Amino acid sequence: MPGKYTVAIDGPAGAGKSTVARGVALALGYRYVDTGSMYRAVTLLALERNVDLTEGEALTELANNAKIDIIEGREKNIIVLLNGADVTEKIRDPLVTKNVSRVASVPGVRKVLVAAQSAMAEGGGVVMEGRDIGTVVIPDADFKFFIVASARERAARRSRDLEKMGYPVDLEKLTEEIESRDYLDSSREINPLRPAEDAEIIDCTGMTAGEVIDLIVKRVTEGRT
Ligand code: DC
Repeated sequence: MPGKYTVAIDGPAGAGKSTVARGVALALGYRYVDTGSMYRAVTLLALERNVDLTEGEALTELANNAKIDIIEGREKNIIVLLNGADVTEKIRDPLVTKNVSRVASVPGVRKVLVAAQSAMAEGGGVVMEGRDIGTVVIPDADFKFFIVASARERAARRSRDLEKMGYPVDLEKLTEEIESRDYLDSSREINPLRPAEDAEIIDCTGMTAGEVIDLIVKRVTEGRT
């Protein structure tokens, strides 16, 4: 296993980060952490408990008291437990997806989750995926990548995922949703989505996930930053 490095993979929604980060973790024998799933878990809890999504304090309290565990399943597929219950599928519900940016823009929620994520990265041997991993969660990560792809390609990818899960898809609407989520994520005041200065930007439009995985694994095994 090459070193016990920390690998940060950031980028906008639907750029294929999850597939890539999981594949890299698998190839390197590292732990894979999908931080978006944690924001999704808090959002699900808020929806289930009818917490007003404009109430930052209530959402922070929820995040503070929630027990979120990311467990490794087969092939680095993760299982997300929220207060002990398996919510792996529920957190992908379009209603959660629609509301998660709002929850992720609450400073108190971010503080709680960022602290938990930084702790998970301690000791290395981790591939962590999100929006602010290279900038905030692990600013001293050994390797930082920022993955981008055209909005159209990202919408098409997400629509294939949603169709597989049995949700109806409107490609135009999905493209708009992705663009508006990007805007919210990159314009928020706290921890906005932007590449770290020392991140390598990979435009994977037209690349297969396998090609992107190979590129990142090569960088890490060659020990180049
Ligand atoms: O990657 P995803 O679509 O599951 O992320 C869900 C939401 O959480 C998305 O709106 C961005 C936000 N997020 C974030 O703000 N910071 C992270 N580190 C990961 C996700």
